[in-house]
Amino acid sequence: MKLSNPFVPDFKIIGILCYCRETYASQMADELSAYFAQSAISGYSKFSKHAGFACYYFHQSQALRTISKQVLFSELMFARQLVFLVAHPVHLHEDDRVSSVLSVIPESEQALQTCVVEVPDTEAGKHLSKFSRKFAVPLRQAMRGKELLYRRKFNKPITGLCWHILLTSSDKAHIGLSLPQNRSNHENGIHRLKMPHDAPSRSTLKLEEAIYAFIPKAEQSELFREGYRAVDLGACPGGWSYQLVKRGVQVEAVDNGKMQNELMATGLVEYYAVDGFKHRPVYGPVQWLVCDMIEQPQRVTELMLDWLVRGDAKHAIFNLKLPMQDRFATVTQCIRQLEQELKQANIAFSLQAKHLYHNRDEVTVCILRQSDL
Ligand SMILES: C[S@@+](CC[C@H](N)C(=O)[O-])C[C@H]1O[C@@H](n2cnc3c(N)ncnc32)[C@H](O)[C@@H]1O
Repeated sequence: MKLSNPFVPDFKIIGILCYCRETYASQMADELSAYFAQSAISGYSKFSKHAGFACYYFHQSQALRTISKQVLFSELMFARQLVFLVAHPVHLHEDDRVSSVLSVIPESEQALQTCVVEVPDTEAGKHLSKFSRKFAVPLRQAMRGKELLYRRKFNKPITGLCWHILLTSSDKAHIGLSLPQNRSNHENGIHRLKMPHDAPSRSTLKLEEAIYAFIPKAEQSELFREGYRAVDLGACPGGWSYQLVKRGVQVEAVDNGKMQNELMATGLVEYYAVDGFKHRPVYGPVQWLVCDMIEQPQRVTELMLDWLVRGDAKHAIFNLKLPMQDRFATVTQCIRQLEQELKQANIAFSLQAKHLYHNRDEVTVCILRQSDL
């Protein structure tokens, strides 16, 4: 993918803010600590239980131009959004909240594209969402007045730098900014998808979101197309197969349950009532292996490696179920094993893992094979 080179202001950044699922703030904090433990940047993670976000504060502030290249949204598994913080949580004075925000926003040679006022994806956040929408209007106006923002056509997608004001109450906000190509472009970092009326299950949205999240738009029709074959392990009632069939891919659906009749009637799905751990591709290597079996993550990891290393599948998208305990440690261990064993097998690949919006207690992994070394 060709990356453009946007203007990045010379701001001092005091930390990182990542939005995540409500109950995953502690995992988000663990992940941030582990991420920075591998770098020379010292600091500490901070979170509240069920807050829907976590922060990592640096001991010494960092230059945005440098830190924005060192911290990558795509590498943070539990992060729905990545914001570079310019100030510690700000108290918003009841009689002039706008000025409270403006007081911490640094001056820049160039205006930013826009400012979004967001709330955590939590019960408390829901109660604040009406207030956040109302507050955004005078705030943006004031920011434009001070030339902190340039004028954007109504509803034009956000492609440039963006201020984020994350409200945790009507009088407290975290303030920072996000950069194009290093963030989610969705409001609150949530990619809401419409449930297709004829899909066999809501699980279909997990694979749909995964395809959008992991595969650049320009490559989606190249990687999923007519004539390609896939194996879907743990397929019933067919939500994931539905996404493949929709893209013209022929599917071997493996499960003991029942597949949706309409999906079977497309003629693109063959059903195999066998154990997903024993099935092998019926017509030789396939383009895609997808797997949504609810199983121990270590077992699924071994199975995916077996298929990929043997060359039975070129690419894979699968879920790793998160255990009750040691979630971050367990999934990190699985990902490390995948990376190590694929490297040992001389397979050139990219691996991405995300706790997607449509996931619950699972992480989706996408392994795309480049050419063999
Ligand atoms: C979460 S559901 C899959 C939903 C499906 N992806 C969809 O979109 O409709 C998990 C499925 O895995 C199947 N499963 C679990 N263990 C399996 C195994 N060892 N072999 C085959 N299927 C298995 C279950 O029968 C169940 O239908």
